[in-house]
Amino acid sequence: MSRIASVDLDPIYDSRGRLTVEATIVLDSGARGRAGAPSGASTGAHEVVAFPAGGVPDALVAFRGRLAPALNGVEVSDFMAVDRILHEVDGTPNFARIGGNPATAVSVASALALGEETHRPLWKVLARPGIDGSRFPGIVGNCLNGGRHAIGGPDIQEFIAYAEEPRPADSIRAAVRVHELLGAELHRRYPKAALGRGDEGGWVAAIGNVEALELLSEACAKARDELHLSVHPGLDLAASEFFTDGRYRYKEQTLDAEGQETFVARLVDRYGLKYVEDPFDQEAFESFAHLTRAVGDRTLIVGDDLYCTNVDRLRRGIDHRSTNAVLIKVNQIGTLTDTLAAVDLAGANALATVTSHRSGEVPEGWLAHVAVGTGARGLKCGVLGGERVAKLNELLRLGRATQP
Ligand code: PGA
Ligand code: ZN
Repeated sequence: MSRIASVDLDPIYDSRGRLTVEATIVLDSGARGRAGAPSGASTGAHEVVAFPAGGVPDALVAFRGRLAPALNGVEVSDFMAVDRILHEVDGTPNFARIGGNPATAVSVASALALGEETHRPLWKVLARPGIDGSRFPGIVGNCLNGGRHAIGGPDIQEFIAYAEEPRPADSIRAAVRVHELLGAELHRRYPKAALGRGDEGGWVAAIGNVEALELLSEACAKARDELHLSVHPGLDLAASEFFTDGRYRYKEQTLDAEGQETFVARLVDRYGLKYVEDPFDQEAFESFAHLTRAVGDRTLIVGDDLYCTNVDRLRRGIDHRSTNAVLIKVNQIGTLTDTLAAVDLAGANALATVTSHRSGEVPEGWLAHVAVGTGARGLKCGVLGGERVAKLNELLRLGRATQP
């Protein structure tokens, strides 16, 4: 098995035009892997830090001074050996010294290099027991942006088309069609208003939360009738972003925890939501549990900021029966090893996983492999924009490899 002959970390831009990093690893066999790390805007309080205090320049200094010397010459028979070194060199619980984004880039690049060396696609390198690459995630496609991903839109961060078909081509077609129908309807209703696109490629319109949800559910119904495919509305409320002093503060209304539980449960039934992410503050394990008890038989209740892909937080959620699903973001926790630990814990407790992009993305497709290799129920990667389409297209390719 080969050793690391060279490892580099370089600045690149993400889809918001902010600096992030990519890692390039070359093994002495010549096999190589390169991966960039994405960045969030509505980051959870319990995520690892993306970069050390001084940002990307400090990360490059830490990389050259500490990390690169420790990685050079290391045998890459499994990427977990590299991940262990990332933790050893950093020495903090949240990658404060080397940064979670450099860690993510190095971890994924090493798994890609190992894949090239052993002639396996990334999903196979990561594959959990029983995964043979023939089952594919549904698409969690953001169609209208609000919150911190849009200027002048609703408070709710994401209005989602959740398409669940066995074939990636069908799921993607349905989610893309909902995005298109929603844009057409917004234009019909507000012919003089300018329509924008948000950070994740969804529409941005100066409308309220409930109107946005009405339009989304109509677009989903139309797409279902037209295509005869399973596509339903969903939300990522990212509620920590508008939770202050114990209240959920929307432009139209202010709710206490109980009011928010009732409000969201009503939305689930009124609009047939099949996907509800972060409907409460990131510490509200009990509110999540109340909602899951009330409507968890008919929709996914997904923890993102609640868990931050962190096994300790996920264990708390399992103890409280907070959710029936968990969002998985590699750079929330910093390595593939830690990501797989969260996936395995979820699987052992019958929680669905949804593999997710960040709002600031890189135009790469490796996330689709993480979703397939971990048997994810959904791939959340947006619908439009080159950095989103890169993941959808990679999923299409994986679908073609095993399906007619
Ligand atoms: P972020 O948002 O990447 O800005 O954190 C995505 C999400 O909340 O799912
Ligand atoms: Zn989220």
